Amino acid sequence: MAEYILQARNITKKFPGVLANDHINFDLKKGEIHTILGENGAGKSTLMNILDGIYYPNEGEIYINGKKANIRSPFDSMRYGIGMIHQHFMLVDTLTVLENVILGLKDQSFFINKKQIADKIIEISDKYKFDLKPFAKIWQLSVGEQQRVEIVKMLFRGADILILDEPTAVLTPQESEALFEILKKMKSEGKSIIFISHKLNEVMEISDRITVLRKGKVIGTVNKEETNPVELAKMMVGREVLFRLQRKPLERGEEVLKVENVEAYNDRGIKVLNKIGFTVHKGEIFGLAGVAGNGQKELAQVITGLRKATSGKVFLLGKDITNQHPLVIANSGTNYIPPDRLKVGLIPNLSSIDNAILRRYRKNPIGSGILVNYKKAREYTESLIEKFNIMVPRIDAPVKLLSGGNMQKLLLAREISENPALLIAVHPTRGLDIGATEFIRKKLLEVRDSGMAVLLISEDLDEILMISDRIGVIYEGRITGIMDAKDADVHKIGLLMAGSTEEESATVH
Ligand SMILES: Nc1ncnc2c1ncn2[C@@H]1O[C@H](COP(=O)(O)OP(=O)(O)OP(=O)(O)O)[C@@H](O)[C@H]1O
Ligand SMILES: [Mg+2]
Repeated sequence: MAEYILQARNITKKFPGVLANDHINFDLKKGEIHTILGENGAGKSTLMNILDGIYYPNEGEIYINGKKANIRSPFDSMRYGIGMIHQHFMLVDTLTVLENVILGLKDQSFFINKKQIADKIIEISDKYKFDLKPFAKIWQLSVGEQQRVEIVKMLFRGADILILDEPTAVLTPQESEALFEILKKMKSEGKSIIFISHKLNEVMEISDRITVLRKGKVIGTVNKEETNPVELAKMMVGREVLFRLQRKPLERGEEVLKVENVEAYNDRGIKVLNKIGFTVHKGEIFGLAGVAGNGQKELAQVITGLRKATSGKVFLLGKDITNQHPLVIANSGTNYIPPDRLKVGLIPNLSSIDNAILRRYRKNPIGSGILVNYKKAREYTESLIEKFNIMVPRIDAPVKLLSGGNMQKLLLAREISENPALLIAVHPTRGLDIGATEFIRKKLLEVRDSGMAVLLISEDLDEILMISDRIGVIYEGRITGIMDAKDADVHKIGLLMAGSTEEESATVH
């Protein structure tokens, strides 16, 4: 018994209309990294939220070090040494690192010794080489840095059972590598870690054991050494998954998007787009590769009107749309899958219906006059849910109750179904399980075949290479190279991403 630091026995959690966890048994050994794998909506986050005291199960028990634990709130889980990083971060943007770390601590006296706390944050931060400044505001930090704040927050509270719910979904490959080093160090210090990811290569790299869930049930637990990605995929989906896509030859048409010498600044006032220029044509997928933070986010914002270009021009189908209002640009035929589904893409407190028709409520037949035709809106939403295989608790439940991957599917369904001239897709398959990822990539190829121009912005080089027709590389706000996908490979793109010029990268071959 003592071998296990945490055991879940027969955990069952019902939500209205959904059996999210169905008699789950799960063991965590002391000092292991145990991955939970499963399709979108399989019940992973629900189980983790139960361990963290956010939800209380309908049935089942949790044992910590062999003794039955009574976890009814995150305070309780903290007492048992459990700390969790949620799928969607829970930091408060406008507060400092320090304020976020102490937020929600129970014994918050009026006389908090900020100096002492700052010292402790720096101590933890130094130990893991985080370089965090206790008095920096959260909004000033990159996503990777924000995640480190979450880790410091857990460690500050003395957690020795760490739960990380899809921590790498929002990280660059480099940041993920850095996180893995941190996890390995924590493990060597005897901490026990539960890790969730949809990326099988990561799972194979970091795990000691892997438990697979499907539709709320445990399918099995395997040792990493005794399994492989094909077997895991099969356990997860219940069938073989093919990682191959059929694609038709390119029929490149007229120019749909033209970005010309555009310059722009980021939120911190630093110039992040530096005379950037490229075109995207009808019927092609233009993949833009690059390490995050090289201007990708701001570029998408400038094209969609969410950020001002300080110089240069953006043309859509020959029409100058530079610095137009976002609604005007959207209505001229641009759809946008933003990187942050909960901040820009969806409205968490509104229902699936409201979110699905966000771009249609002014148009017939859903919007007629000033009224929204709810029957039509519901039918439309139902059709999206069916086509994109989205799991919703109820169609009129707030989308914040959907699992992470299902939110992403709803957003994708809405934006892809509009048939715009231009689709800008930023990390479209982020957080999707392997089946859904394959489905979305097929969809992107389908809309390309039907004549849409697609600008795909992704850090996932496999994704870029798999579906793009042409590939551009962005580095420090400039395009360092553009090539046909058939002439591209990971090595060549990798060099351009690191700032080499096209000539330099060509000579290395
Ligand atoms: N508070 C809630 N109310 C109603 N239904 C819920 C609630 N929380 C989760 N669900 C439902 O429970 C099911 C399991 O969701 P969960 O978030 O655990 O999935 P997941 O395995 O983490 O998926 P993903 O990989 O997409 O994050 C989903 O159908 C989800 O919609
Ligand atoms: Mg989840």
